[in-house]
Amino acid sequence: MTDSSPHSSTIKAIIVAAGRGERSGLDRPKQYQPIRGRPMIRHSVESFSSHPGVSEIWVVIGEDQEKMADAALEGLQGYKLVTGGATRQQSVFNGLSAIADNGGADIVLIHDAARPFLPHEQIDQLIKALDHAAGAIPVLPTTDTTIRVENDHASELVDRDSIWRVQTPQAFRFGDLLEAHVELDGNDNASDDAQIFQAAGHKVAVVPGDEILRKFTTARDFSETAGQRMIDVRTGSGFDVHRLVADEELWLGGLKIDHEKGLAGHSDADVLLHALTDALLGAIAAGDIGDHFPPSDPQWQGAASTKFVKHAVSLIKQKGARINSADMTLICEAPKIKPHRDAMRKNIAGILEIPVDLISLKATTTEGLGFTGRGEGIAAQAIVTISTE
Ligand code: CTP
Ligand code: MG
Repeated sequence: MTDSSPHSSTIKAIIVAAGRGERSGLDRPKQYQPIRGRPMIRHSVESFSSHPGVSEIWVVIGEDQEKMADAALEGLQGYKLVTGGATRQQSVFNGLSAIADNGGADIVLIHDAARPFLPHEQIDQLIKALDHAAGAIPVLPTTDTTIRVENDHASELVDRDSIWRVQTPQAFRFGDLLEAHVELDGNDNASDDAQIFQAAGHKVAVVPGDEILRKFTTARDFSETAGQRMIDVRTGSGFDVHRLVADEELWLGGLKIDHEKGLAGHSDADVLLHALTDALLGAIAAGDIGDHFPPSDPQWQGAASTKFVKHAVSLIKQKGARINSADMTLICEAPKIKPHRDAMRKNIAGILEIPVDLISLKATTTEGLGFTGRGEGIAAQAIVTISTE
């Protein structure tokens, strides 16, 4: 990564996302279709925005799609929106013009939103190639036997060694590409920028492409992704402690336990469900229990902690994710947890709406050591995994 910007050039990216995705047959522009739990367009914006060499990303969108694009890209840094045109070439030109009007660049990378999976190594390789060329593109060899087809019949063999598949991103010296576009003045409908660049008399270097850069075009491309079950798995952890005092009820795992002491706290002080809530929120990076249910808010006085867990579960569902498993540990000398363990697991399985065999609950003492050992309080920890498809 260190050599991605060898001469500290200004590198900017354009992602074209103004197409209609007609061949996909989807009921929305394909760039907004979720893939691996995120709108397709978000993936490549994330790749560029997390790349240290790329300073600005221009996302070229369709008319009146600002709201949709901002929603899809919520929370990402360093991107700007510009409206595209009727052809890909015009959309790229609008992106180039926006860069020209905003300080220009030394190098520009042009990428299709329809190629969501973009490794940083590919960006590095293209930028490096510009040390010795004015333009560079990723290409892949043709591995199948390649023929011409005429009138629905197989015709002559084509020498596959001379046939290469072209991908994006494509990297160019900014000034040269802008000039090439201006020269053509929209008088071509090139499907990529290398063609425009070559038409202006420039040479284009090739670097090895990557199958992962494949373009999503037809409905089948989208259903195949679902079929491959490309899953995004996340983990969240939670920890909580409450003080054990006389004259309080003891609630653990959503159940009232008979014991001579209970846990003190603002809500019902169910330490286990609090750790579980934090683990659930942690898995989706949604803050902690105090953010959602401030202790200063009187409405949570004595509240059943089941409510907190249910809220976290609903947030996970809204993200299109599902809970895979929960593993929890209660840390205390007393009460003995084992007699209640299965009832707690069953109750938690009900709250999380998943089978009980995905819920693990363990208990341990601390051998008389520390606040748990002295019986002053109970601690709990929880780990949750979730996945999006
Ligand atoms: N594109 C664009 N402006 C256009 C046409 C295409 O920005 N007027 C973008 C698309 O959004 C896509 C990329 O160019 O990211 C490659 O085009 P393609 O795969 O053909 O996408 P669509 O044109 O959207 O799909 P279709 O041709 O099936 O309608
Ligand atoms: Mg198209």
